[in-house]
Amino acid sequence: MRTIIYNGKGGVGKTSVAAATAIRSAEMGYRTIIMSVDTAHSLGDSLGKDISAEVTKIDENLDALELNIIHEMRTKWSTIKDYISALMVSQGLEDISAEEMAILPGMEMAAALFYVLQFRDSGAYDVVIIDTAPTGETLRLMSFPDVSNWYIDKMFGVMKRLLVIARATVGKVLEFPLPSKEVMDSIEGIKNDMERVKEVLEDPEQTTIRLVLNPERMPINETMRSYTYLCLYNKTVECLIVNKVLPPDADGDFLKSRLEEQAGYMQMIHDAFDPLKIMEAYQFPTEMRGRKKLEALADMIFGDSDPTATYARSSPMRFTSEKGVDRLHIKMPFVDPSEIELFKTHDSSIIIATGAQKRKIALPLTLADADLLGAEFDDDGLTIKFRRKKHD
Ligand SMILES: Nc1ncnc2c1ncn2[C@@H]1O[C@H](COP(=O)(O)OP(=O)(O)O)[C@@H](O)[C@H]1O
Ligand SMILES: [Mg+2]
Repeated sequence: MRTIIYNGKGGVGKTSVAAATAIRSAEMGYRTIIMSVDTAHSLGDSLGKDISAEVTKIDENLDALELNIIHEMRTKWSTIKDYISALMVSQGLEDISAEEMAILPGMEMAAALFYVLQFRDSGAYDVVIIDTAPTGETLRLMSFPDVSNWYIDKMFGVMKRLLVIARATVGKVLEFPLPSKEVMDSIEGIKNDMERVKEVLEDPEQTTIRLVLNPERMPINETMRSYTYLCLYNKTVECLIVNKVLPPDADGDFLKSRLEEQAGYMQMIHDAFDPLKIMEAYQFPTEMRGRKKLEALADMIFGDSDPTATYARSSPMRFTSEKGVDRLHIKMPFVDPSEIELFKTHDSSIIIATGAQKRKIALPLTLADADLLGAEFDDDGLTIKFRRKKHD
């Protein structure tokens, strides 16, 4: 099963391009589902169909779903939700509602990724297309498997300690409800699923990301930044789709100067992203709503080719080892080397900080106690060198 994630700034055309891809994919005979993870759902509008928070059949080979996290909480996460509610009430805090829990960061994308696992296990689909929320938010959500493991480890640790205390204080009155076996199983289940999600997300054979942008300064800058962070999070960006490109035969003085400006931006895009595959779609004179227009958009982007083809497979992060020196290579274009900070933590991880973002990379066991020899930065990215400790 192949998962394609569309991401980009608001209004650039993610939903339209994702819907066009889904329609074409279904036409080619792939069992396809398109999932919208943006709370401001516009997928139904784009497809001209009513879509619900449950899997909805749209067409032959084509299903759709507009994810609603409150619905997910109520229907699938109730064991944990009930426990957290009880825990909060026992501590004299107000009960927490599904609505409140739904605003925890990353929940929406996490729920979408659980669907991906579910679809993979059931074998119901060949292609899953995810239409995401605008850049900043989704980037944060993309790191969810890492972040959530941290949350869950903490939560799990606390609960395990509660159980130990409970055993040691049999007969005494506890001031908080103990997590039941069901709750513990539920948390363990989520933890295992998140680990599987991480595997699926970081395997380019299974999951790739396509960035949508327009030939304008702000979307270009934002896309460059997203690309860097996605590399940092070990995700494979396989192509760019430049949408709303003015056709070269656009007429009139007004459009002429826009066309000149656009040529500059197209150059900027190539300078910044080559050798990444770059596809283009012209600006249509009208909105892209309904099947016919989405078909035309698919034609323009993919022509006769398979819209689900994988354009890039290389993972932006890899490890190599030579003459006793281990190297971790991370493709990190567009980063100011003076902004990068590296730390090795006591729990055998390294932290790479660039600007406001931080990424913790757990080192392989062989490098757990290795010395950090330093880092080099070139056009390709960051190379971090380690030397393993000699063990007699
Ligand atoms: N190639 C295009 N030509 C003309 N209008 C477009 C094109 N692509 C998208 N649109 C329109 O631009 C608006 C935003 O598109 P949408 O796909 O909803 O973007 P996003 O999901 O990134 O916010 C919509 O009104 C859509 O119909
Ligand atoms: Mg959208």
